[in-house]
Amino acid sequence: MAQPDPHSYYDIAQPRTRHLRLNWRVDFERHEIRGSVTLELEKPCAGPLDLDTKGITVHSARAETDGDVVFSLGDADPILGRRLRLELPQGTTSVTILYTTAPEAIALQWFEPEMTLGKRRPFMYSQCQAIHARTIVPCQDTPYVRVSYSAAVTVPDKLAAVMSAGPAGDRPGEEAATRTFLFEMPQPIPPYLLAIASGDLESRDISPRARVWAEPEMVGRAADEFAEVEQMIETAEQLFGPYEWDRYDMLVLPPAFPFGGMENPRMTFLTPTVIAGDRSLVDVIAHELAHSWTGNLVTNATMDHFWLNEGFTTWAERRILDALHGEEASALRWAIGQNALDESLARFGADSPLTKLRTDLCGVDPDDAFSSIPYEKGARFVTVIERHAGRERFGQFMRKYIRTFRFTSITSEEFIAFLERELPGTAAAVKADAWLYGTGMPSNAPVFKSSRLDTLTAAAEAFAAGRRPTARAVGGWDSDELLVFLQHLPRQLDGESLGWLDRNFRLTERGNYEILVEWLSVAAGSDYEPIFSRVREVLLEVGRMKYLRPLYTALGAHPRTRILAREIYAQGKAGYHSLSRRVIESVMEKYDE
Ligand code: BES
Ligand code: ZN
Repeated sequence: MAQPDPHSYYDIAQPRTRHLRLNWRVDFERHEIRGSVTLELEKPCAGPLDLDTKGITVHSARAETDGDVVFSLGDADPILGRRLRLELPQGTTSVTILYTTAPEAIALQWFEPEMTLGKRRPFMYSQCQAIHARTIVPCQDTPYVRVSYSAAVTVPDKLAAVMSAGPAGDRPGEEAATRTFLFEMPQPIPPYLLAIASGDLESRDISPRARVWAEPEMVGRAADEFAEVEQMIETAEQLFGPYEWDRYDMLVLPPAFPFGGMENPRMTFLTPTVIAGDRSLVDVIAHELAHSWTGNLVTNATMDHFWLNEGFTTWAERRILDALHGEEASALRWAIGQNALDESLARFGADSPLTKLRTDLCGVDPDDAFSSIPYEKGARFVTVIERHAGRERFGQFMRKYIRTFRFTSITSEEFIAFLERELPGTAAAVKADAWLYGTGMPSNAPVFKSSRLDTLTAAAEAFAAGRRPTARAVGGWDSDELLVFLQHLPRQLDGESLGWLDRNFRLTERGNYEILVEWLSVAAGSDYEPIFSRVREVLLEVGRMKYLRPLYTALGAHPRTRILAREIYAQGKAGYHSLSRRVIESVMEKYDE
């Protein structure tokens, strides 16, 4: 018995699943999915088959040949959930499990109609990365096992359903007032890319292969905001090779979504906070799109190699934006990333094992290990290799890397072996071991210089010393420039300075959440009462953890803002995703230390 993935009961000696057939009924009253999954196996087999489950009630299991299959559920592990062991009769090629999900299934968030924009219909969506697919389907929930899938999903007939798959038609459901949507996902994906959403959804075409889905009230604004997406796909194809997923559609979720975006293939899931009104947050789209190559085609074998997904994708996202918008602004994007990296290094401590790129997360919940380190340290590692090889040669290397490992899941060590094969001597020259196995930042971390960046950091330093930038200087700043300026200000400012900032930059009214949250964090951390009501509004509206963490942290700085935070949390708790709740609670636990 050997388990190659510390976050799965998958046993490498057992047969792998190659296709899932899902038949789901989405029950908005009971907050559950009921139905069945048929696991089609790679070859006829017999004996034990271990699957991952969490919170799932299994009603029965049947093999296609021999009828009932004996099954047993192991003890519940707080991270992994329960092992479902099936005893397969001789010659089994497929097995069907009837089951029901738990109302508190981590992968699912449910919204009553009044919690949606339209206030007429309920809404639900899934978020399976990293190890939550097992809360909606018993499966080998590890990227080692890639599956194609087909699905029949029945929802109330006023609602639409979308999945990380190609649409294959819809028809009236068997029960009255229901509709069944069919899906086909022919490409093999890791289970964490399984995704579903259902609600009052409308769509708008952006290009022949890209479309945005959202509640009707939002869909027009979303289509405007994401108008550049076809250009992004074409740019990315030039950089990384053909787009292999047919369509690139996007779904705008309710603001409680705990992430910025999730790269579900054929249907990226997005927070509505990326809709700034001026396309200033499309880096999230570039990022999720880039995962179509780095992550969805070439996938991390386990969460210990998560940087292979996020480091490459963060690097790729910036290359796409450089190609589309020019490279002058590039150093600013790297500076914004550096700020996030510094926060994560400070939070964990620079000698924490969680600051390694290649981690050892056995016994650690991937949600607790989440940080900017795999993203930003990872992207810097890729940049060091790129600079060593040269742009041109590295471009070819990347395209070959993707071609070689497409539709497979690989480890950091396999990546290094490939690097050595293709660009001999590079690993040692760039100190790959220090990047992968060392904590903190290696001595050869790349530096991103630009005169714009220097001007902005100087302006922030001058501001801290009491010198205000001139109206002429700030008049031309775009949102990244303003963000860099704000990020370089001291975390505590006096009321006069804060008043000046808000008057001159209209910060409290900003539609760009990166700027808004940076501003509110500084102001809340400075106990600045005029923004308390805006902080409350934002925290009651938005569930994106990237925003909740700094805001709740800033509120911890003063006694009355701590009281405010506890009050807001009590009010907002029911509307937060369970992952968001966990982050907030971990932040507030530190208030009393
Ligand atoms: N795949 C991630 C989101 C994720 C990671 C969900 C791990 C669950 C576990 C996604 O691609 C992502 O990185 N989103 C970022 C976007 C940003 C870096 C532009 C986010 O949500 O902030
Ligand atoms: Zn990502």
